Amino acid sequence: MFSYYGSKAKVVQYYPSPTTLKIREAFAGSARYSVMYWDTPDILLMDKYQVIVDVWHYLQRASVNDILGLPRLKEGETLDDFNLSYEEKMFLGFCIKGGNQIPSKKTTWRNVVHRPNSQNYRLQNISSNLYKIKHWKIIQGSYEDLQNEDATWFIDPPYQFGGHSYKESNKNIDFALLANWCRTRQGQVIVCENTKADWLDFKPVIQMQGSVCKTTEAIWTNFPTQYDSVQQELFSWAGGK
Ligand SMILES: C[S@@+](CC[C@H](N)C(=O)[O-])C[C@H]1O[C@@H](n2cnc3c(N)ncnc32)[C@H](O)[C@@H]1O
Repeated sequence: MFSYYGSKAKVVQYYPSPTTLKIREAFAGSARYSVMYWDTPDILLMDKYQVIVDVWHYLQRASVNDILGLPRLKEGETLDDFNLSYEEKMFLGFCIKGGNQIPSKKTTWRNVVHRPNSQNYRLQNISSNLYKIKHWKIIQGSYEDLQNEDATWFIDPPYQFGGHSYKESNKNIDFALLANWCRTRQGQVIVCENTKADWLDFKPVIQMQGSVCKTTEAIWTNFPTQYDSVQQELFSWAGGK
């Protein structure tokens, strides 16, 4: 629904689809997995970063007209130039500059000059998808607070190597504890990382150009997938020995 640093927007389709009627996204961010499978009857998102949760709650309450009525920024303007609520500012802050960890106040020169319709396009797109998220539950907290239940667990924490720039970053994550937590979830467990991580036995999925560098997306899951039988060629391409 909105742009976010480290979102799975470009690769979500490579992860297995849910095998249960419940999705639990413990490190939600912009929750691309739940957006893709939005009509799953029971969806729960959790994020430790309060702003993310506030933006999701705003979107759940917002009408199509609320979103379409938001301002489009011109060159030199900032969100402070408009009479906006805190939630509107946080939401627009993620929309006006793509791939940010925190909301921005200004849009980019590229958005204003090269792609003048981009803000309009994004808001129209989001407004036409609002109905998808009305039934979701979205809460602020740390992943350990979630109760264990038979569900599809989509677990996408900040990368062990590279996830330092989030407001709630990898610095406060004990990856040994997280590994144990992932292994003990009931149901279908899908864990995302890159191939540099060593806290679970991750298998390469696909190479991705991030906003800073190229990484190879990886998966650990408790269900068989096509990624289990890693071809030698793919493994060495992903940096394996
Ligand atoms: C890699 S991003 C998730 C991206 C998401 N899959 C998407 O498609 O946008 C990781 C998220 O985990 C959150 N986070 C960090 N530590 C957390 C914790 N202990 N519990 C829950 N969320 C946490 C961060 O605030 C960040 O939003």
